[in-house]
Amino acid sequence: MKKQQDAVIIGGGIIGVSIAYQLAKRGKTVTVLEKDTIGAHASSAAGGMLGAQVEFSEPGPLVELSLRSRSLFPDLQQELYAVSGIDIGLNHAGMLRVAWTEEEGDMLKHRASWQHDLGLRVEWLDRTEVKHIEPAVSDEMNGALYLPDDTQVSAPDLTRAFAVAAVKHGATILERCEVLDIEVADGQITRLSTTQGPFTAEHYVLAAGAWSGRIARKLGLSVSVFPIKGEAFSVLCMPQPIQKTIYSHGCYIVPKSGNRLLVGASSADCGFDERLTLGGLQELMTKAVRLLPALKDCTLEKTWVSLRPQTNDGLPYFGSVSSCKNLLIATGHYRNGILLSPLTGEIIAQMIAGEALDVELAPFSDKRHVPVTS
Ligand code: GLY
Repeated sequence: MKKQQDAVIIGGGIIGVSIAYQLAKRGKTVTVLEKDTIGAHASSAAGGMLGAQVEFSEPGPLVELSLRSRSLFPDLQQELYAVSGIDIGLNHAGMLRVAWTEEEGDMLKHRASWQHDLGLRVEWLDRTEVKHIEPAVSDEMNGALYLPDDTQVSAPDLTRAFAVAAVKHGATILERCEVLDIEVADGQITRLSTTQGPFTAEHYVLAAGAWSGRIARKLGLSVSVFPIKGEAFSVLCMPQPIQKTIYSHGCYIVPKSGNRLLVGASSADCGFDERLTLGGLQELMTKAVRLLPALKDCTLEKTWVSLRPQTNDGLPYFGSVSSCKNLLIATGHYRNGILLSPLTGEIIAQMIAGEALDVELAPFSDKRHVPVTS
C-alpha cells in the first residue's frame, strides 16, 4: 500500500508555502491545497515591511517572535535564491516612523525606551535630523523614530520563492483546489474532500489566512479569525524621492525596485467585502500626499485590495489544536504575515518532524483565553 503523505496544508498563502518549504527541505512529503492561486490574497498585496519594531507599541511575546523571525531573513534570502533563483528583494535601508504632533512623538519615545532596553537599535530624530536623511518627508512632521533594522522585502517574490523552493524540494502545490468538507473520526481528521478529489495525510495544517475561521467552523473549533480589508496602491516616481520606508499612523510608503513606491494601507472590518472603494483610496492618498508631498507628481501605477487575517486578541494561532489530534494551525498573522513567515514555517515543520522546539507557544495556543466579540 502506498505510504500516506506526511502533511497536507490548507492554504497557499505565504504561511502555507513557508511551511511546505520547511517540510519538503526536511524530506517530508507535503501537498499544499490553495483555493485560488499561490499568494493570491494578502501575501502578494503586502508592503513587505519587516516591522518587528514599528508594528508594536508595547513589548510582549509577539514582539519576541517577530524579532526572531526578522533575524532569519538575511540567510533565508541566500538560501531561497540558491534553490529557487528568485531574489526576495531584501532592502536594508530601514524605516522612519513619523510623528505629527509632540504628543505622538512622546508616545514614540516611550517605544524607543523599551526597545532600547531590549537591546534594539532605535533612535528618535527631530524634524531637522529627519529632513537631513530623508529631505522629501513632509515639513509638517514633528520628528520620527529611526528603525534601521526594520527592513523590507518584496512580498510577492518571497511568496513565489518559498513556493518554487518547496516544489524543488519535492512538495506538491495544487491551485484552484478548494476544501469542501473535512471528515473527522475519533478526534482526528480522516479525509479532506476538495474540488480536486479526496486527500489524506498524517498531519493537516490550517493556514488559510482570512478564510481560516470559516474552515475552523467546519471542524467546530473555537478559533476566531476574521478579515480586515486593506486597500493599497503603487506609483512610479523618477527619481525615487525616498530611500527608507516612511510610516505614519494609517499610511506607509515603501520604496521598491523599478522606481516604484508602494503605499498602504486602509484598515476596515467589513467581512469578506473585497471591493476597492474610492473612499478608502481617497483617504489613503490624502494621508500619503501629506506624508510625502512629492507623491503628487508621481504616476499612479495600480491599485489593489486584500483581506488580512485578524484575531480577537490580535495574536496569531500557532501549533497543535487541542480538540483535533492530527491538526496544526498557523494563522491570524494580521499585519505581520510576511515578517513571521520564516519562523512560522520552521515552527510548524519542527512540530511535524518531531524536532525540539525552542519557542514558547502558549500565548499563541488555541487554548488561550481569547475574548469573544459579536
Ligand atoms: N503590514 C502592513 C499592513 O498589513 O498593512
